[in-house]
Amino acid sequence: MKHYTIVGNWKMHQTPDQAVRLVKKLQAQAKPHTHVTSVICPPFLSLPYVEKEVQKDLFKLGAQNMHEQDEGAFTGEISGLMLTGMADYVIVGHSERRQHEHETDKRIAKKVAAALRHDITPILCVGEKLSDRQENHARRVVVDQLHGGLSQITSEEVGKLIVAYEPVWAIGSGESATPDQVEPIVNVIRQTIEEMFGEQASGSLEILYGGSVNPDNIKSFLALKHINGALVGGASLNYEQFIAMIETAADLSNAR
Ligand code: PGA
Repeated sequence: MKHYTIVGNWKMHQTPDQAVRLVKKLQAQAKPHTHVTSVICPPFLSLPYVEKEVQKDLFKLGAQNMHEQDEGAFTGEISGLMLTGMADYVIVGHSERRQHEHETDKRIAKKVAAALRHDITPILCVGEKLSDRQENHARRVVVDQLHGGLSQITSEEVGKLIVAYEPVWAIGSGESATPDQVEPIVNVIRQTIEEMFGEQASGSLEILYGGSVNPDNIKSFLALKHINGALVGGASLNYEQFIAMIETAADLSNAR
């Protein structure tokens, strides 16, 4: 059976009270599925509140970012050490952080390595901007981001990593990419991982699609051979929609 990972990125939404209410609503409807891992990524501030509420057989927790150092004079930052025991996953290199916080591949590589050091699964986000796609550079951008972001890990560690392909132009736009646009890039991702870390590492890597995923279009992405799940932003804040997407993944995994 194919395994799917469905990740909800709440971004900068939900106060702690709202976050706890949302988790309760999700859990009232969620069912455990052997072949689907559902992950929610609340803002840092809500993480400990959500952690008290969450049923680990239904949802795993993720952070939306982390610092690459364990501690130090880094005002406003949260480290992997602090997330240990609370978050099983961490989103690294999201395009909003690359764009607004000027995160570079070099920095992202350090975060990926730090997450793995703390036994937290990094979800490395890669994806081209609209201008890259228009200039036919989508593949090159994604390959460069993989080479940069994974420069500090070994082939043994690739098995603990997730890569999310998120074309920047599809994020929060309501205009998802089409499966025809996603498939060639996802193939390039798997091929690049194979070149960098070998066939076994590439075969075991989970690749997610992200960018305006919703209950109506998720099936078309999950049905792609090399896609193992979705990274969902806006639609993950609606509990009925998020549950519907998890159930679609469960149905598909049972069918395979
Ligand atoms: P979106 O966000 O689903 O709202 O497009 C996806 C993401 O940024 O991870």
